[in-house]
Order: sequence, then C-alpha cells, then structure tokens
Amino acid sequence: MMENRRRIDLLAEKHSLPFAEWKEIFSTWTQSDRLYAADLAREAAQKVFSNKVYVRAIVEFSNICANDCLYCGIRRSNKEADRYRLTQEEILSCCTKAYHEGFRTFVLQSGEDAFYTKDDSLVRIVRSIRKEFPDCAITLSVGELTYQQYQALFDAGADRYLLRHESADEEYYNFLHGGKLSWKKRIQCLHDLKKTGFQTGCGFMVQSPRQTPEILAKEMIFMKELSPEMIGIGPFIPHCKTPFAAEKPGSLELTLFLLSLCRLMKPTVLLPATTALGTIHPEGRLLGILAGANVIMPCVTPETVRNKYFLYNNKNALASAENILCSDLQLQLEKIGYSLAVGRGDYREEEDQP
Ligand code: 5AD
Repeated sequence: MMENRRRIDLLAEKHSLPFAEWKEIFSTWTQSDRLYAADLAREAAQKVFSNKVYVRAIVEFSNICANDCLYCGIRRSNKEADRYRLTQEEILSCCTKAYHEGFRTFVLQSGEDAFYTKDDSLVRIVRSIRKEFPDCAITLSVGELTYQQYQALFDAGADRYLLRHESADEEYYNFLHGGKLSWKKRIQCLHDLKKTGFQTGCGFMVQSPRQTPEILAKEMIFMKELSPEMIGIGPFIPHCKTPFAAEKPGSLELTLFLLSLCRLMKPTVLLPATTALGTIHPEGRLLGILAGANVIMPCVTPETVRNKYFLYNNKNALASAENILCSDLQLQLEKIGYSLAVGRGDYREEEDQP
C-alpha cells in the first residue's frame, strides 16, 4: 500500500489518482500529509499565478430561492428569512462602487429566483454591465437554468458561471437536497455551461453531514473528468434555521487539504479561498492562499441587505467586517508575501512565462 506522501507526489506529477488511492488518502490522512500537500500546492500555484491573488466582487442580489437544500439558510422552507431583491439600478451601482475599488470581476449571485430569469431581466442586467464595464469579467451564480437561458446570458456578455455540483454521488446529492432536486439535471447543467462557452465552476462543501472518504474520492474523480475552470470548496457550516442546525461544521484542516489536492490535480484552476473558510477561522482565507488557492471574493452586497444573505451561521460577521475597500486585504496578503492582481483574472491553460 502506498503511503500518503507517495500518493501526493504522484498526484503532483500526474495530476490524477485512481479512486482507491483517493479513498485511502481521505481515510488515513494526517496533518503532516496536509502540510506536505500544501507546500507542493503553493509551489504549483506560484508557477501559474506567481504571488498574485485574484479578487472578485460578489453582489448577492436576491435571497429568494425556489429550492429547499437541507444545508442552506435561504432555503424555501425557512419562513424566517427576510427576503429581498435588488433592482437593476442597485446592482449596477454596486458594480460601479466595486469598479472604483479596483475590482475587474463582478460575481452576481442569488438564490434560484425566477423573477430575474422568467423574462430577460437578468439578460438585460448582464448587457448593461457589459456595456458600462467593457474591461470587466461578469460571473453568474444563479443556479439551474435551461441551455437556452445559459446561452442567452453568455451572449449578453457573461463570462463565467459558478454552479457547485454539491456531490458527484447521486444518493448523497439526494440526501442533501431532500430528494427535491435532480442530480442528473445538475450534472447536465454543468455540461451545458461548458458547451455554451462559459468558464465553468463546480464545487462542494467539506464535511457536510454523512460525507464519507468514499464520497470525497468521488468528488475528486468527478472534478478530474469535468475539468472545470473554477472550483469552489468551503467547509459546511450549520445554519440555525435548517434541518442541519445541530450538525458539526466542517474542519479548517480538511478544507485546506482539499484545496491543496485540487491545486495539484489542476494547477491552472481558479480556486477561491471561500467566504465559508474565512468564517470558520479568522485567518481562514489567508491559510487558503497558503494552501494553494488563488482567488478571494469579497462581498460588496449593499449594507442594507447584506446580513439577509444568510447561508450559514456567522456569515454576517465576516461580511459586515468586510469593507469594499481592499486595502485591509492587501495588507494581510503582503504579510504572507502575496499581492492583489489587477485585471479580470481569467482562466488560462498555460503557466506564466517567467
Ligand atoms: N455551509 C457552507 N456552505 C453552504 N452553502 C450553502 N449553504 C451552506 C452552508 N450551510 C454553499 C453551497 C452553495 C453555495 C452558494 O454556498 O455549496 O452552492
């Protein structure tokens, strides 16, 4: 049987591992394996991105959601969630503010709110941002839509799309979503997004209830096959008004380990140190960068509604501390030898030429 360091070396060299080896890693890993992987992953990230961190401004423009995911605070069944929608003008004014702060990617995220997609209002919003900010990238994260809808959003000028697959294991996916969402449809959406031309992101939560080493192994195999341009991974964090309220949060360490493994599997992938990671540990996002992540996504949602986009406990503490101004972030990154990149920060197949 291979030792984990040998497995990690093999991953770094071949960018893939067989299912059985993944399963062994997730069943037997130690802190020393994690730190070993982090060193290699950080090196791999620096080869592609040098010491630059990409930033994206997240605008959470609606917390109305048709879905009922067991883990999520804005699930339909949470009657205590205080729902809101931003208008096109409000969204544009967020982008304008963010632009002046130096952001060149806007991430428009919402619940699955048909208000924006039943007609072409999201298409119009994308078009107006595209027109006003020709030098910026537009990322959407608004859930499952039809191929035609994805195509229309892409044609309107959106560049990237985030849709976490949540799990590559159909049974586990059904458990997380109370059997109310179709795993096949989710996977189809990801393939549709790629076909449309979007830089596409998938991802999942770490240590959500009943996640096993075998399931994690399946996530890695799935992501290897899909080969997304972006991967979003954060710890599961319980939300007090969901069926998972009493569950344990995911660990910082396993999340960091997974970030490193993703970096080694796909050195060029755009890999954020997520808000959830920053929520479970005050230095979470910096540790994420040191484990091989290369993106940070500060929240620029207007203060008036910001704490209503409440996906999990304590999310708001981080979001409200986060001033749009990146100077704080810049300082923190400088302390660990990194700096913010200027520009859109698109996916590239190739390493930077030295
Ligand atoms: N803890 C961590 N992440 C969560 N998400 C939703 N709810 C939680 C939670 N309780 C993640 C999901 C979703 C993304 C927008 O946020 O993976 O895809």
